[in-house]
Amino acid sequence: MATESSKRGIWNTRIGFIFAAAGSAVGLGNIWRFPYVAGEGGGGAFLIIYLICIAFICVPYLFAELSLGRHHQRNPVGAIKAITGPSGWLAVGGLCIVAGLMILSYYSVVAGWAIGYVAKDVIAPNTPFEEFIASPGLVITLLAIFMGLTLYIVAGGVQQGIERWAKILMPLLFVLMLFVILRSVTLEGASEGIAFFLKPDFSEVGFETIMVALGQAFFSLSLGMGAMITYGSYLPKRENILSSGGYVAVFDTSIAILAGFMIFPAIFALGFSPDEGPALVFVILPEVFAQMYLGGLIGVIFFLLLSVGALTSSISLLEVVVSYFIDEKKWSRKKSVYTIGIIAFILAIPTALSQGAVGFLSDMSYIFGDDGLFGQNDFLGVLDFFFGSLFLAFGAFFISIFVGWVWGAHYAAEEIQQGSTFSGNLMKFWIFMLRYICPIFIIVVIIGMFLDII
Ligand code: PFF
Repeated sequence: MATESSKRGIWNTRIGFIFAAAGSAVGLGNIWRFPYVAGEGGGGAFLIIYLICIAFICVPYLFAELSLGRHHQRNPVGAIKAITGPSGWLAVGGLCIVAGLMILSYYSVVAGWAIGYVAKDVIAPNTPFEEFIASPGLVITLLAIFMGLTLYIVAGGVQQGIERWAKILMPLLFVLMLFVILRSVTLEGASEGIAFFLKPDFSEVGFETIMVALGQAFFSLSLGMGAMITYGSYLPKRENILSSGGYVAVFDTSIAILAGFMIFPAIFALGFSPDEGPALVFVILPEVFAQMYLGGLIGVIFFLLLSVGALTSSISLLEVVVSYFIDEKKWSRKKSVYTIGIIAFILAIPTALSQGAVGFLSDMSYIFGDDGLFGQNDFLGVLDFFFGSLFLAFGAFFISIFVGWVWGAHYAAEEIQQGSTFSGNLMKFWIFMLRYICPIFIIVVIIGMFLDII
């Protein structure tokens, strides 16, 4: 068996892989993004559409990424090259590397805010959120701290860095979360929030809700940019892709639902509105906590768990890019980690300054008009739209075509069969979903996005 000292990493244990992949999936997407998009998308109705996207599009597609990665044990570019040789398809792998770097850059900025909010009472007491994120020195320092932690873990390697830390951080996140939920659902008036989240009202649902739900599902499961190709590439052949992948999807979805239970009851109980947008977690929740018994402590715990979730995700974003340089350019892990880390940090600076510190980055209506891109007009929102939504959708479209038609769904199914029982109707159903339903559904959503922009 390969060990950490051999050139490529490999997961040490099955549970280590599940924690690491679930760690990649669970992050700001679940705890920060999911509640506000669900809040804006009508609560229960959004939840149902989201669950359908996860079950019928994302899970079949997840198996495609994992099998592609494990087959040749390579990064996204290397995995494609091993199948087609030099070809235009390599550009799809390239898309993954670029998306990884760009998402890492803006993701680390928001994660930096979360770290800052853990110690907010000490470093910036009484500073409102808008002022906090517009303070250049503060946000860049927090960004540097978060990036430093990410680099430290990834530099440790697959087993000693990513797997070891995921096994510590994921259970910690879960325990912290249960603690906050317990407090939230026992508040007086919490039941209204629970009803909002569980009772579907489809009257407000439109095509845009479906687009947002699918985009959120991809982002949340870390799909469409090769993170699961990369993590799959460290899976030994004896591992069961179906059950491991299934656990990851269930884990990620449960955490998103738990985040709903953490946030909506508290918001309704204390008389706030659920459709506050991206500021929901940073503006509304501290106010909610301030009105709670032991609120200060719960606030610290909450932002700690947000930071932990973000860290296990950012390490996977960095690992996608790092694995490319290790496999394809034969760089050492340390050289890759520090070079990419510094580039990502520099790329993140405009995003860090885009929340009020620098005018032309904070309001880009001179390019995107007054409505912006899906209502976002700052550099962070623009990057999130292009890389966190559009690139992921394109990536998932091309990768599902690649695995389903170019490599061939039957070869992918054979890869999945190693380590798991995968045959008969289940396999036929999967092949059908991968070849037809995934790409068609995704392309319809992409076209919808374009129509919405123009
Ligand atoms: N899944 C992460 C989250 O929900 O926060 C974000 C993410 C990580 C997206 C890794 C894509 C990725 F490759």
